Amino acid sequence: MTETYELVVRGGTIVTPGGISVADIGVNSGRIVCFGAEGSLNGIDVFEAHGLHVLPGVIDTQVHFREPGGEHKEDLASGAAAAAMGGVVGVFEMPNTNPSTDNAAALQDKLTRASGRMWVDHAFYVGATDRNLDDLHILENEKGCSGVKIFMGSSTGGLLLEDDDNLIKALNNGRRRVAVHAEDEPRLRERKKIAEKEGHPRAHPEWRDVDTALTATRRLISAARKTGRKVHVLHVTTAEEMAYLASHKDIATVETTPNHLTLSAPDCYERLGTRAQMNPPVREARHQAAIWQAINDGVVDILGSDHAPHTLQEKAGDYPATPSGMPGVQTLVPVMLTHVNAGKLSLGRFVDLVCSGPQRAFGLVGKGRIALGYDADFTIVDMQADWEISDDWIMSKCSWTPYHGFKATARPIATIIRGQQVMRDNQLLGQPKGEPIRFQDTLGRLEG
Ligand code: DOR
Repeated sequence: MTETYELVVRGGTIVTPGGISVADIGVNSGRIVCFGAEGSLNGIDVFEAHGLHVLPGVIDTQVHFREPGGEHKEDLASGAAAAAMGGVVGVFEMPNTNPSTDNAAALQDKLTRASGRMWVDHAFYVGATDRNLDDLHILENEKGCSGVKIFMGSSTGGLLLEDDDNLIKALNNGRRRVAVHAEDEPRLRERKKIAEKEGHPRAHPEWRDVDTALTATRRLISAARKTGRKVHVLHVTTAEEMAYLASHKDIATVETTPNHLTLSAPDCYERLGTRAQMNPPVREARHQAAIWQAINDGVVDILGSDHAPHTLQEKAGDYPATPSGMPGVQTLVPVMLTHVNAGKLSLGRFVDLVCSGPQRAFGLVGKGRIALGYDADFTIVDMQADWEISDDWIMSKCSWTPYHGFKATARPIATIIRGQQVMRDNQLLGQPKGEPIRFQDTLGRLEG
């Protein structure tokens, strides 16, 4: 008698570590348990995926969901809805919330708030401050924690570790990979007058210039070497940092964002004004070209969206008092797959950047590839869809996207998480059932 699986994803073009082929995938109890020739597997529930690509579930390792949010302010529920709508199965959420996520109670509070409200699987960073340096080795091992995040330069919120002494203390106290926002705070302070004088976001990449980023990244790598601690350099934006980091891949993983690959200065500031304002900034075309080169040379490990929504009302203030950040979790997949269709990177490299890359850098358990025994997480996409991204598609409470009017050639069709269909054809299905992501570094002590 042939077996019947709880779910069969039938006849899709599946992207596995072994290559791209058309096959059936059998799922039981939320895990991948079988592969079969097209049409060969029976399921209680069958997802007909003919003509569609079945990717491993996309993980976005940098989002700001800002719980507790507010009427027009993002929260864990709305941010995760946007993620699921965009084909994302899991997120790492940042600690620069109000109040900051910098202690065990705050981490626990986020997990409690996430339960029953988040559509996607999740982990939370704990922010380093000069008050919790002694506790970081404990905090990084809390359930659902993706590790420590350090802001070397100030951005939204009050988290900051600006000097080398504290940076080294933080890196000395713990073992897991530390994610770092590398902008040099003293240089930011000194140069803020440039932004104030110009009064327009076109000055943003000049205020927060190449040296601001490069100085901090060099300081970070030096501190990582002194302490022997592995680091993850978030949203790298300059040609100079990419060239430098290429020779430090033993200790540093590298992230960049779809924004830095898609938008460029000065056009984005003239077209989008403060909506294009983010930290570190979107820069001129030569940086964008170098970041693409770093994608294709393998220097970049991970693409994160840095989803950081602010309302249009907040963005309507006077630069530079306006907040930095753009929404991005929902547009990551269609924007990047449009780049795939345009020949800017291969589909395999995209999967490497948003599935295997997070798995490798952070030691995810059961996620990041389509393989037997792994979670049945799938980002199912149509690689031949001509459509236009628009503000009214956006689930984030901010209700806008810098990609309004972007002509996309691929779109997310379904988001399946641990065997459950969470989004299909632009509809969220059922109830939010996201769970904490598990990590190899903390496996065992957190089980049960
Ligand atoms: O542009 C940004 N916005 N960069 C950050 O590092 C923080 C983020 C936010 O939280 O708004």
